Amino acid sequence: MCGIFGYVGQPGPVGNDVLRALRTLEYRGYDSWGIAVGHDGRIDLEKRTGKINGASVDFADAEIGFGHTRWATHGGVTEPNAHPHLDCEGRLAVIHNGIVENFRALRERLEASGHRFRSETDSEVIVHLLEEERATTADLAAALAAVVRRLDGLNAVIAMDVRTRELVAAKTVSPLVAGIGSRGVVIASDALALRGHADRVVYLEDDQLIRLGKDGLVLYDRASMREIPAPLAPLHALVGDAELGAYPHYMAKEMAEQPAVLERLADEGVDAVERLAGAIVDAYGTFLVGCGTASYAALTGSYLFSRIAARHINFVVGSEFKYHEHFIDPRSLVVALSQSGETVDVIEAMLAARRRGARLGAIVNSEHSTLDRMVDLRVPLGAGPEQCVLSTKAYTAKVAVLLLAAHAVAGTLDRGRDEVLQAAAGLREMLAGPWVDRVRAVAETVSRTDHLFVIGRGLAYPTALEAALKIKEVSYVHAEGFAGGELKHGVIALIAPGTPCIVYAPNDETRGDILSGAMELKSRGGYIIGIGPIADPVFDVHIETPDVGNAAPLVNALPAQMLGYHAALRRGNDPDKPRNLAKSVTVK
Ligand code: F6R
Repeated sequence: MCGIFGYVGQPGPVGNDVLRALRTLEYRGYDSWGIAVGHDGRIDLEKRTGKINGASVDFADAEIGFGHTRWATHGGVTEPNAHPHLDCEGRLAVIHNGIVENFRALRERLEASGHRFRSETDSEVIVHLLEEERATTADLAAALAAVVRRLDGLNAVIAMDVRTRELVAAKTVSPLVAGIGSRGVVIASDALALRGHADRVVYLEDDQLIRLGKDGLVLYDRASMREIPAPLAPLHALVGDAELGAYPHYMAKEMAEQPAVLERLADEGVDAVERLAGAIVDAYGTFLVGCGTASYAALTGSYLFSRIAARHINFVVGSEFKYHEHFIDPRSLVVALSQSGETVDVIEAMLAARRRGARLGAIVNSEHSTLDRMVDLRVPLGAGPEQCVLSTKAYTAKVAVLLLAAHAVAGTLDRGRDEVLQAAAGLREMLAGPWVDRVRAVAETVSRTDHLFVIGRGLAYPTALEAALKIKEVSYVHAEGFAGGELKHGVIALIAPGTPCIVYAPNDETRGDILSGAMELKSRGGYIIGIGPIADPVFDVHIETPDVGNAAPLVNALPAQMLGYHAALRRGNDPDKPRNLAKSVTVK
């Protein structure tokens, strides 16, 4: 959460460059944004609340500048709380991603010794601590090293000193990547933001610190402050197609990319899947860990392994992992599922698993992300950049990997590949034909309701949870997913005449029971939106999906994604940046 970008180099329109980079990083938070440019020994500052949209800035040309997009944690969405934050003299500035967990005690002490605070944020303590250090330490990098030692929590910090015209940065878990280009040096929380500015990049490690100045970048070991070589890698190899092209929104683009993502996995992902399957077979117990949509992919995986390979796979939500930790030992395999590879609840789970000696794996989309770099068993999703805050193509990719892995464990990998390819073909047909118009019409009903329920059984149960999440987070319609059999245990009390109820009815062993559940809903006035390959009289409206057996979760996600997207448009919501959310959840 929060996007940060900084530049030091030849003089130029730094303010506009930073603003452009912040647009790329806005998926990390869009409550407010701010830019600082060092100019004639002073810092010029611009801060605004809300999304960047078509905003422009008017700074003089300069050699140094940085900026921040904020996802608010401490302090409301106000201009004073937007970053950058300045020291009392206005010579130092800081941008920050993370939470300074001990900020209250630090702030009290700093205020008592005369520092003037201008915001309610935890972040502002960093710049005042730096101001204190700077009074006795001539070197900005050494001063920041001393400051970060005093911060509790997972943080990424970039500090600017306008007098020495340099940026220094350090991080704990929260990502930072620095790069070198023809005009200067840059640093950001995501390599995507370095495009056009750098051709070689280096990912910062937790025990390092980096200085960016007119002479380039220098990497240090943070404990000793000794210079160390920077292992630079070419940038172009790290980032895929991030352009919107002819699509109206990234969500539309990324939904449409799903068939190609699945085809690529079935063709090129097999080696990594086989390695994962081997590790699962070798392990005494396997845990799949993820958050949000990734957790529903993991839960789907646990059903797939049970169904296809008769193997028990544990599933734990990232933030709950520590309460299951005592089951983990050196014979365990813990596999993280993540689009961003930066979700802090998952990273913390993996750190805990590592402390217990478990083998670590990751099914991750963002290569070189923290999760990708911390495990020894990597399964790349290869879905390309996912820019919409909602996860769509990364979800189906994760489920496809788990479907293939379950088949690999069962010794039926070829069948798994056929199932994935069949699902990809089905998705292509759905996306190309009148199917989309039909779903758009159903989205009208969804957009007009306050509450909506989604039910599924077996393999379709996690799909129901994911469908409800997708619809609610983008349309802001309250949607709840639950297991079809749970209806009569309480939830049915909420069904009123006309309440839309989405019923997943695949052509499998759950069909009879789920249709009985649909009947029970209809008897209470529920409006039944049936999703599945076969129509049924209980459905008020039927969204048809292809009959693809075990691969049903791969085609069943699209109807909910599409319903959410079109309901959001009808309600005037921005589908790519729903309120209060951020793409990369790097705070607890
Ligand atoms: C929902 C969504 C989130 C993410 C979750 C985990 O559409 O995008 O629920 O799935 O924050 O993110 P990753 O996969 O990056 O770990």
